[in-house]
Amino acid sequence: MAEKKTTHKSNKEKAVLVLGIESSCDETAASVVSNNFEILSNVIGSQFEYHKPYGGVVPELAARAHAQTIDVIVSRAITDAGISYQDLDAVAATGGPGLIGGVLVGSTFGKTLALVNKLPFLAINHLEGHALTARLTDRLDFPYLLLLVSGGHSQLLIVKGVGNYRLLGNTLDDAVGEAFDKIANLLNLEMPGGPNLEKLALCGDSTKYLLPKPLHGRPGCDFSFSGLKTAVRYKMDQLGNISSSDKADIAASFQKTVCDVLVDRCANAIKIFQEEFGTNQSFVVAGGVAANKSIRAALESLSEQQGIKFIAPPISLCTDNAAMIAWAGIERFSKGFFDNLDFMPKPRWPLDNI
Ligand code: KG4
Ligand code: ZN
Repeated sequence: MAEKKTTHKSNKEKAVLVLGIESSCDETAASVVSNNFEILSNVIGSQFEYHKPYGGVVPELAARAHAQTIDVIVSRAITDAGISYQDLDAVAATGGPGLIGGVLVGSTFGKTLALVNKLPFLAINHLEGHALTARLTDRLDFPYLLLLVSGGHSQLLIVKGVGNYRLLGNTLDDAVGEAFDKIANLLNLEMPGGPNLEKLALCGDSTKYLLPKPLHGRPGCDFSFSGLKTAVRYKMDQLGNISSSDKADIAASFQKTVCDVLVDRCANAIKIFQEEFGTNQSFVVAGGVAANKSIRAALESLSEQQGIKFIAPPISLCTDNAAMIAWAGIERFSKGFFDNLDFMPKPRWPLDNI
């Protein structure tokens, strides 16, 4: 176990400092976080401009862009934190799941820094980064119920501890973020699809189009979004020439339907969770889609009805960032869950199997 070091902030106060690196999709990010729940730096380089002409993330371009910028982003994170590499206690990098080219760039960079600076290396499951963020922002105790909604995942999990997850429900087809991105594409919105669809929905009538709500009212906690996406496509074909106000109505109706589906599935999960763990617990939403204000509001009102405390981390910590990777590093560091430098990045890495 590495010896604890002193932060730049105070000579008396000892803190564990972990550098986190995130590169699993189209953000190159680095951050330094302390075990005092402090984010000392949080640098994010977006690749939107690279991928915009293609209407989606191109894996090969993403990997190249990570390789081009990662050194600058990591140095910025160290400088912004006001520390040097010698002040770090460990280096944590996303080890999967994600686009493998990017994960290879970030994790190899992290391993190299760990080797050169004689620091422990921590390979972080990206989903665990999202899952543990609420412990950084809200100092939450285990266990809690988690709705994890991102570009690649839609899951309901019970978070029992670091590396200890029980899956209650999963998507049977598309992830909810993927559905947002695909509908945004159909509506000819620019990247990033999800946030732009949310903006457009603000000017639309959410009751204008009645769309199917897959699995709504059924027992269990699974999700399905591909039928909803197809229904939107048929509706658009049917309408033919679509005005900008039609587009806003479609965006608003789609978003409202997603909210209804999420609320229905989460209501089942809350019941299951409360039966086992009682009512004095929390329900957390995490992942990029948790940045959506309508979804946050719908889940908050469900939580009020069901008598469970609702926690949604700040929007900047819901979408991909490296502070969540550094924090998961702090959590794993405190448990002594280190990884060897021969860790192989994993394109697929289920959270209930780490
Ligand atoms: O967690 P994240 O940043 O990356 C992954 O791990 O996938 O999530 C990205 C996903 C994308 O599908 C994006 O469109 C969606 O989250 N997203 C949103 C919003 N912000 C990001 N979806 C709906 N509303 C938003 N405001
Ligand atoms: Zn993510």
